[in-house]
Amino acid sequence: MSLSSREILSKAPVVPVLVIEDANDAVPLAKALVAGGLPVLEITLRSAAAEESIKRIIAEVPDAITGAGTVINAKQMERMAKIGCAFSVSPGHTKSLLKAAKDTGVPLLPGAGTPSEIMYLLEHGYDMLKFFPAEQQGGVSMLKALSGPLPQVKFCPTGGVSLANLGDYLALPNIITVGGSWVAPKDAVKAGDWATITRLAQEATDKVAELRG
Ligand code: 3PG
Repeated sequence: MSLSSREILSKAPVVPVLVIEDANDAVPLAKALVAGGLPVLEITLRSAAAEESIKRIIAEVPDAITGAGTVINAKQMERMAKIGCAFSVSPGHTKSLLKAAKDTGVPLLPGAGTPSEIMYLLEHGYDMLKFFPAEQQGGVSMLKALSGPLPQVKFCPTGGVSLANLGDYLALPNIITVGGSWVAPKDAVKAGDWATITRLAQEATDKVAELRG
């Protein structure tokens, strides 16, 4: 039985947003993040190694909840369903992407940034959305303003979120979790410095636990 977006995001203090350039890094990277308390992983389809990386993590890191990010069309969604992704994330949404999500049954976290986009997604049954790019779309003050007229929607803001502003986002009533790349810096991945990644993940996990009480 697959988990809904809400169930998946509820298990994520933070969702690491990953661009994996070498599939050999995928499993140690996933293990490092899971060890630091971050089991929900978004592997973006922005690199040639993305699909192979997702397959390896699904096969070898059973404690991870493995999703695909930057899923922008129906073809990619169908591909991700085939390889067994637990969920998918898109920076935005299109009619055909929403249809593919429905047809494949892969939970989708679609992106939105304006009231009209949010209302459109609500009409299609989505109340769990990615707010992207968070800082550029108005960040905390925009999300605060949206919580007035659209309180039924919960967001996962990504784009410019870091340990420094995490607390401001989590203080809002309409945030389910946040996403970001800061827990897996490119140079640490390149160097195979998995201990640093576990430390950054644990730091984020601890901070969320402290903020959420
Ligand atoms: C993205 O899709 O690139 C994410 O939103 C990550 O953004 P960040 O690198 O600012 O965390």
